[in-house]
Amino acid sequence: MLPVDWLEERSGLIGGLRYFLFRKVPRETNWFHTLGSATLTAFLVQLITGVILAMYYKPDPKTAYSSIQHITNDLTLGWLVRGMHRWGASVFIILLFLHMGRVFLFGAYKYPRELNWLVGVLLLTMALGEGFTGYLLPWDQTAYWATVVGININANAPIAGPFIANILRGGNEIGPDTLARFYSIHMLLIPGGLIGLITLHLYLVIRLGITPPPWTRAAEGYAAEEPVPMRRGLVEPRPRGNGNGAVVRRGLPTVPRRPES
Ligand code: HEM
Repeated sequence: MLPVDWLEERSGLIGGLRYFLFRKVPRETNWFHTLGSATLTAFLVQLITGVILAMYYKPDPKTAYSSIQHITNDLTLGWLVRGMHRWGASVFIILLFLHMGRVFLFGAYKYPRELNWLVGVLLLTMALGEGFTGYLLPWDQTAYWATVVGININANAPIAGPFIANILRGGNEIGPDTLARFYSIHMLLIPGGLIGLITLHLYLVIRLGITPPPWTRAAEGYAAEEPVPMRRGLVEPRPRGNGNGAVVRRGLPTVPRRPES
C-alpha cells in the first residue's frame, strides 16, 4: 500500500477518511437519514450539469435564448444535460424541504445542533435564490415576466424594497445588466456560498453525530443495553486463515479463530 501510506504520512487524509467512514452512528438510523445525502447528490448533479451548460450559454439578451436553443437542439445530449439541470433544480428544492422536515420531526435541531440548523436556514435561502436567478437565464417570455413579478415583490418590501429591486435589476429596468448580474450570482456567488456552507454543515454533522429517531431508547438517553454485534466484512475484515482454523497475522503471534456466531 505504498501510495496510500505515502499520502497518509504526509497529509493524514487516510486517517481522516477512515474516521469518517467508521464513525459511530445510532443503530436505529433509517431511510429518513438518507435525505441529507440525497440533497447533496442533487446539488452535485446541478453543479456538474451547470458547468457543462456554462460552456455554451451566452448571457446577453441578443444571444441567450438562441444559445439555449442551440444547447437543446444541436449539441450531443445537450437536451439531456439541460433537462437534468432544469428538473434537477426542482428535485434539489423538494429534497431540501423533505430533509428539513425530517430534521424538524426528529427534533434534530435541538441542543447541540442549533448552529447546524441555522447553517441549514442559510442553505435554504441560498438554494431558493439559486432557483430565482436561474429562472431568468433562458430569456424567454416566461423567464422575463416571472422575474418582473419576483423583483416587484421585493420592491414592495418596506423601506429597503426599492433599493433591493434596483440592485437586482442593475438599474431601473430589466435588461442586459440584469441578465449579466443574475448569471454571475447564479453561477459564481451562490454556488460558492453553497459549497462553503455545505462543507461547514457536513463538518458539524460529523462532529456532533447523528440524532437517533425520537421513538428509540437511545433518544431517551439510555445507552445500548447489549453490545452491537459487529458486521463482518466492512468493519471487521475477514482474517486470513492458515487452513487449520488458526489466523495468521503478519508480525503477530498466531491467534485462534473466533467461533462463528
Ligand atoms: C444544500 C442543502 C443541504 C444539504 C446538502 C444537507 C446535508 C445534510 C447531511 C448529509 C446530513 C447528515 C445526514 C442526515 O441527517 O440526513 C445533514 C444533517 C442535518 N441537516 Fe442538512 N443539508 C442541507 C440543508 C439543510 C437545511 C435546509 C436544514 C434546516 C434548516 C438542515 C439541517 C440539518 C441538521 C440540524 C442536521 C443534523 C441532523 C441530525 O443530527 O440528525 N440541513 N444535512
